[in-house]
Amino acid sequence: MARVKHTRDAAGVDSVPWRDVALATKGFMPAAEGDALHAAALAAATRVPGAPFVEIGTYCGRSTVWLGAAAWLSDAVLFTVDHHRGSEELQVGWEHHDAEVVDGRSGRMDSLPFARTALELAGLENSVVLVVGGSVELAHVWDRAAAMVFIDGGHGVDVAGADFEAWAGHVARGGTLAIHDVFADPTEGGQAPYEQIYLPAVRSGRFVEESVCGSLRLLRRL
Ligand SMILES: C[S@@+](CC[C@H](N)C(=O)[O-])C[C@H]1O[C@@H](n2cnc3c(N)ncnc32)[C@H](O)[C@@H]1O
Repeated sequence: MARVKHTRDAAGVDSVPWRDVALATKGFMPAAEGDALHAAALAAATRVPGAPFVEIGTYCGRSTVWLGAAAWLSDAVLFTVDHHRGSEELQVGWEHHDAEVVDGRSGRMDSLPFARTALELAGLENSVVLVVGGSVELAHVWDRAAAMVFIDGGHGVDVAGADFEAWAGHVARGGTLAIHDVFADPTEGGQAPYEQIYLPAVRSGRFVEESVCGSLRLLRRL
């Protein structure tokens, strides 16, 4: 399917500059955190070989490329879910709104075309499955343990809490739960990912924190 082919040169360097594609894609994943997410996914795949990765919150595909490249390198598949209509904070009048991500016909947010383009340019169409719909609805039919679940969906209290409830149980033992935009200090950012996902995960006794990079928290499933 994918027209871009990944090959390695003698030094093992990938022929497709997928990281440049990630950096050129709209979104909210800083480079250092994307690199940390990529490395964590590679490590999770070695602990739980053959298991899929799951991303909640594709948006335009920025973090998806970092994770998708890890899937490709691991012979795994990344399932990334988003309704592509934008979270509350991405709508018109909110701080993170981008008018370019509005569908001219409907006047609604539509980040799906951007995500498809990012995956095509990064040569990752065979390693990433775009799921268009609600994250909780997907979780209800999801039936296998994931090497990594990355939660970066809606940042409202109810939505973040629902993602934790729906997805934490799908992380394989030895797998990784990654959470974005975790701010323990309320002056640094919204509290929902911290209070509704990070704290319940740690307090459950099922996860232990492995590392932190910016607002990205990486927890290992015990
Ligand atoms: C913060 S953005 C994701 C950013 C992306 N990971 C990146 O690196 O740029 C959050 C995304 O979650 C999606 N979203 C919010 N609530 C959702 C839900 N309940 N189900 C599916 N997608 C949801 C929004 O449409 C939005 O695109």
